[in-house]
Amino acid sequence: MALNLDTRQRAMLAEMHVRVWSPLTAPEPAATSSAVEVADAAVLTHDAPVVSSPAPVSVAAARAPVPAAVTAHAAALAAAPVSTPRMGQRPEGLDHMDWATLHSTVSSCQACTLCSTRHHTVFGVGAPAPEGQVPQVDWLIVGEAPGENEDLQGQPFVGQAGQLLDNMLRACGLSRTAQAGPEGGGIYITNVLKCRPPGNRNPKPEEVAQCEPYLQRQVALLKPKIIVAMGRFAVQSLLQHSVPGVDNTPLGKLRGQVHSYQGVPVVVTYHPAYLLRNLPEKAKVWADLCLAMAQLRGRSQ
Ligand code: URA
Repeated sequence: MALNLDTRQRAMLAEMHVRVWSPLTAPEPAATSSAVEVADAAVLTHDAPVVSSPAPVSVAAARAPVPAAVTAHAAALAAAPVSTPRMGQRPEGLDHMDWATLHSTVSSCQACTLCSTRHHTVFGVGAPAPEGQVPQVDWLIVGEAPGENEDLQGQPFVGQAGQLLDNMLRACGLSRTAQAGPEGGGIYITNVLKCRPPGNRNPKPEEVAQCEPYLQRQVALLKPKIIVAMGRFAVQSLLQHSVPGVDNTPLGKLRGQVHSYQGVPVVVTYHPAYLLRNLPEKAKVWADLCLAMAQLRGRSQ
């Protein structure tokens, strides 16, 4: 049985990343044959490989009704309003946005499919600042992406990994909510992705590509004196233009040196979630934070 989809329905399915395969000509299956090659089946898949040559199916299978879930899904898509979010589009003018506009732009972002599964966007948290003003900070901590708790609360690093991060920061005399003193010390914590990948899966390259300009603008506005990149995705995202082959370089090889992002020194370290599984590595993160503190001190001397 073929699904007769019009152009609008096909466009919507493409928008939802639902692949449709359907032959241009659909031969009638021979009624007498028990197992014949049948090409008359529209194939609806979620990210499944495109079916270029149909697998042999029995006539009974070919004539079986399309599963209710598939037809319901197609019907729901067809009924969806034409103003379905247009994926892949970010607002113009990011490079000139102020903090408040950037924040609200992130809150309503629909640049990738993560917007359809998130509860909240997670912009970041840090030193208190008057409404709409850029927090005054020396430190910027960059993680990977919100997890379940962060997605529910709209705050970065509020789960177990966050508690570990807070403890490590406390050991450096820092707190996520403290105002910068005369000696500096304010921090801001954010992630490469502002929305949670479902099931905490790894961010996809296209999601990172869509979200990265937000981080870029946050850095430009915050003007931190040091960035601590925590984990593979933060490191790859921040160093992709300055470290050739960064995607294939083990994080351990990037530690212990000071890199640069938009002219801001960057120190690389392990992600707190990794530390929760590998507690002996804590000493290395402490060494990385000491390097960041030394870099800061060197700068202010
Ligand atoms: N892991 C991250 O990278 N960021 C969070 O905000 C929480 C967990």
